[in-house]
Amino acid sequence: ADALKIGIAGLGTVGASLAKILVERRDMLTTTCGRPIEIVAVTARTKGRDRGVDLSSAEWFDDAVALARDAKIDVFVELMGGAGDPAYSAVKAALSRGVHVVTANKALLAAHGVELAVIAEKNGCILNYEAAVAGGIPVIKALRESLTGNTISRVYGIMNGTCNYILTKMEKEGLSFEACLKEAQRLGYAEADPAFDIEGNDTAHKLSILTTLAFGTKISADDIYLEGITNISIDDIRAAADLGYRIKLLGVAQKTDTGVEQRVHPTMVPLDSVIAQVDGVTNAVAIESDILGELLMVGPGAGGNATASAVLGDIADIAKSRPGAQTVPVLGRPAAALAPYKRAQ
Ligand code: HSE
Repeated sequence: ADALKIGIAGLGTVGASLAKILVERRDMLTTTCGRPIEIVAVTARTKGRDRGVDLSSAEWFDDAVALARDAKIDVFVELMGGAGDPAYSAVKAALSRGVHVVTANKALLAAHGVELAVIAEKNGCILNYEAAVAGGIPVIKALRESLTGNTISRVYGIMNGTCNYILTKMEKEGLSFEACLKEAQRLGYAEADPAFDIEGNDTAHKLSILTTLAFGTKISADDIYLEGITNISIDDIRAAADLGYRIKLLGVAQKTDTGVEQRVHPTMVPLDSVIAQVDGVTNAVAIESDILGELLMVGPGAGGNATASAVLGDIADIAKSRPGAQTVPVLGRPAAALAPYKRAQ
């Protein structure tokens, strides 16, 4: 069968991991997907850097929009990040000419997800974004596919690996906030601007996507009560422990009689709860629904390989799909069927 041709925009921590895996596991992926997956086009801020993978056979583009518009590709893989350009224009350019998109960009989806879903559905494109929320945990697939037919009442969890890493390390090793953040950056967990992590915006972006999938409402990332972890001291963590609690940065979305409530803030969770045991860069997402009951998923939430694993799954889904076959609605139901967002009173 014909190879699935992909173009990758962004070769940072995640992009480099993905490229390496695609090259090293080419044979295995060909067997699993029934066709090879080939990187035919790339673009990155720094061109010459050694990423531990030979990309010389791919065409190098100067910028993401040019790649998305001109490269001969079946899938545009956006791993640059950022809610605005170039990611926004590049993804739009790809979808507008019928090219499927895989992205890990939660900020982009939080800001423009509905508009992008409309364009994708109009053009018969797949828009996959498993890596955008909780790294390697298949929470998008769970909400978008597995739980279809359930009425969901609540989604909550630890959705930022950097914050959980910092809180864990402060408690277990007594290190300062700043030292822990530096280490999270060194390990490739943090956002390019780590303020998004520690001030809670990244969790809010992810939560807004889960809210839409869970409740069928339009994405609303601005209407979230937001408090990050920048004011949490080691003394706070110790005081919580003395009372039998651990402090975790949670994102919570729930349905009430008056609308949807979304909030992100440090929360005291009982030491004997599962969520309190979730350490380091690990994330956890709980989904409460009426047919299944409570689902709790725990796994690696950030970092090159964890994120690349989810991106790879999204690409493989496209490789296995039949041309013209009905695709999963981008946001869980057709974009036109999303209800307006109504904030709980
Ligand atoms: N900076 C994010 C985190 C990356 O720490 O969770 C994964 O989305």
